[in-house]
Parts: sequence; C-alpha cells; structure tokens
Amino acid sequence: MNPARKPLIAGNWKMNAGGAAGCALAADVARGTTAHDRVEVLVAPPFTALAAVAHELSGTAVAVAAQNLHPKASGAYTGEVSGPMLLEAGATSVIVGHSERRALFGDSDAVVAEKVAAALAQGLRPIACVGETLEEREAGRTLEVVGRQLDAFVRLLAERPGFGVVAYEPVWAIGTGRTAGPEQAQEVHAALRARLAAVSPTLAQQTRILYGGSVKADNARALLAEADVDGALVGGAALDAAAFVAISAAAQALAGAPS
Ligand code: 13P
Repeated sequence: MNPARKPLIAGNWKMNAGGAAGCALAADVARGTTAHDRVEVLVAPPFTALAAVAHELSGTAVAVAAQNLHPKASGAYTGEVSGPMLLEAGATSVIVGHSERRALFGDSDAVVAEKVAAALAQGLRPIACVGETLEEREAGRTLEVVGRQLDAFVRLLAERPGFGVVAYEPVWAIGTGRTAGPEQAQEVHAALRARLAAVSPTLAQQTRILYGGSVKADNARALLAEADVDGALVGGAALDAAAFVAISAAAQALAGAPS
C-alpha cells in the first residue's frame, strides 16, 4: 500500500446471497466495519439483492457495487441491467471485465472497454479486472496479457484519474486456494502501474490496483503490504462476514501504521 491511495477492500459475492441471506451478510459486514476512515469497503451482491443490501447499508461505512452492467442506458436488451438502474438501486461502483465474464459470457476487451465507458459516463466507479490464465502465465505471457487487457480501457480511466479502479486477478488463483505470492502480485501491479504512467503520471499515482484471487484473512496482510497493492477484491472469503471484516481490518491496520 501507499499512503497516496486509500485502500479499497471489495467483496464480490458472485452468484450467492441474492436475497435475505445477502441482507443478513451485509448487516454482519456493516457491524464489523466501523470507523473505517482509512479504508474504503464495499460489497457486490447479485442484482436481485442490490436495492435491499443498499437499504441495509445506508448510513454505514460499507458501500455497494454491482458485478456487471450493460453499456446501454435502456432499451430492448432482455435480461440485462443498465448503469442508471444500478445507481437507482443504490450501487456506486461496478465490477467490469471479471475473468468469469470474460471466459463464460464472452466479454471481450472491446466489450469491457464499452462497459468501463458506460460506467464512467453514468458516474459509477468502474472496478475493471485483468488477469492471465495458468497457460498464459506458464508461457511467460502474463505481462503481455494483462497489458493488453489494461490498454483496452486505460485511456478512459485517464479522463478522471483516481476514480476508476483496476483489479489484477490471476485466473489460476480464483477460487482455487492458490494465491499469487506477494512478490508475484507486486511484480504485476508494478507493471500495470508503469502502463498507467505511460498514459499519465497522475493516473498512475492515483489509480488503486486491487489484488484478487484466494485472498483470505491469513494472507491479506502480506499482499496488502506490497507497495503497489492498493486493496483486495475478495470472492469466497467475502461470503463469511468475519473473514471479510478481518481482511478489511488488516488493511486498516496497515493504512494506520507509520511508514
Ligand atoms: P476468490 O477470492 O474466491 O478466489 O475469488 C476472487 C474473485 O474472483 C473476486 O472477484
């Protein structure tokens, strides 16, 4: 972490806790997240729970994000949800380009860029994900792949430096219990920041780059201690309020620690 950037701990619930369970989870997270002035915390429930979770969390230190959006504001797009709808439901951020969307739902670099642009146009903070597969890593192509993915939307982020967030999620570390080591994460984060710097030094300095992939209460501190790791995008552990709260507490402790 770097004192120039406020750490962000984000919980991606994926296709879980979409109803009453989501409200209960949100309430538990809020109870454990008091006075997080040094860390931003948010949860991303499924669409069906967004409004109820936002209601549950209003007046607390926990914000709400969506997991996806359609680039158009409205229209004949059966089954889709737009940015203005997310805002109305109480979301202030949206995850874009998660590897599950890229791999399972055909979100190409171009689609991800369209969604980042739509989020920015509507005042929703995009949390734009990049990450290599195991095959790509083993072929030594990690930096090339994440660089290409970042290049698709980096100029859009430059329109409002510090607003958009980038998340590095190596596909091989998602849901596998196999996390990137802190040094492996730092190497990629530093490369991403260098790429941001090539567009604008201010953008590089202000953009938070989150790490995601099997972040747990017991490995969060070491990952977050790396200079270019500005937070975490948490999947499985975000479904357990105590684990998620422990991760944000680790960030809070590091952010408050004298450098
Ligand atoms: P896990 O923490 O379950 O590995 O998921 C990471 C992720 O995909 C968050 O978006």
